Amino acid sequence: MDLKDFWYIAAETKELKRLPLAVKILDEWIVLFRNEAGQAIALQDRCVHRCAQLSKGKVVGNFLRCPYHGWTYDEAGAVVRVPSEGTGDNKVSGRRAIRYAVTEIDDYIYVRLNQAAPESIRPFRIPHYGRRGWKSIRLKNRFANNVTNCVENFVDIPHTVSVHPGIFRKEKGEKIEAKVERKSGSVFVTYRNEKANLGFFSKLLNPRDREIRHTDHFHMPNVTSVHYDISERRQFFISSQSIPVTAEETLVYTDLTYDYGIFNPISAPIVRQQAQTIIDQDIEILGNQMKTIRKYGNRFMNSEADVIHVLIESIRSELEKGGDPLALPEKTHQIEFWV
Ligand code: FES
Repeated sequence: MDLKDFWYIAAETKELKRLPLAVKILDEWIVLFRNEAGQAIALQDRCVHRCAQLSKGKVVGNFLRCPYHGWTYDEAGAVVRVPSEGTGDNKVSGRRAIRYAVTEIDDYIYVRLNQAAPESIRPFRIPHYGRRGWKSIRLKNRFANNVTNCVENFVDIPHTVSVHPGIFRKEKGEKIEAKVERKSGSVFVTYRNEKANLGFFSKLLNPRDREIRHTDHFHMPNVTSVHYDISERRQFFISSQSIPVTAEETLVYTDLTYDYGIFNPISAPIVRQQAQTIIDQDIEILGNQMKTIRKYGNRFMNSEADVIHVLIESIRSELEKGGDPLALPEKTHQIEFWV
């Protein structure tokens, strides 16, 4: 198994119109464009002639034309026209750019780099996205850190009282217990003893301070899904997909899908603003962490709460060395910590 076997968000559906769009995934340069039928196409962003960037070229009908000498590519990446060779059909020449698989789901354009990847690997589906009665807010942010440290942050509770005091949690010395499981390339965390942690809406959604059912999931290689379940019409999902741009840069798409019942009509601006503030604080602390790792390396020490991170790292490092995380033995830990 390889990191390139997975589907990564290359862009939001609304970002790709009739102009070519340059994106980067796992340090690979990719150009996206749409044919006349609206289908998204992904090619390596490199003209096979003299290596100009195709993303600086033009979409002409169903084709992408290089800005340098005008070599023109079809949706399969085949060169169909070389202007200096006259007006004939050049498709037979066998010249072609690398083409990547593309699919569009939940208003995202996903690209997969490895053409021989197993078909069983599919893009992550955003819980309840677009469903009647559910609100959706989408955020896109760039982090100066790697995917592993980003996904660990997104399912890390202890940092919230230090990095997001007041907005997400306050330090109260409360004990939290959790079951942490690693199985099938995922890490599942089920919390107990959580009461108020949804910021501004906590008092409205949970006026009697009942225990909130809270689960966090990590799915290989780059997805975290956080679920707060207060009651049937009080649900909140945070799905984060961390796209490896380079070894030290991660683009994170965050989908907040929630049902706050009667508070749905007034909630969006507040939820958006709170979430962006929290993300901005995480961008800062993760940038700080990466600077130090660059200087001193990433030798970490762990507390009991870090079991979640250790299991995520075990899956990601297996992928980074070309192993199969599905073959890792199942593990279960009961942990407790205080926030
Ligand atoms: Fe693209 Fe020459 S470099 S046509």
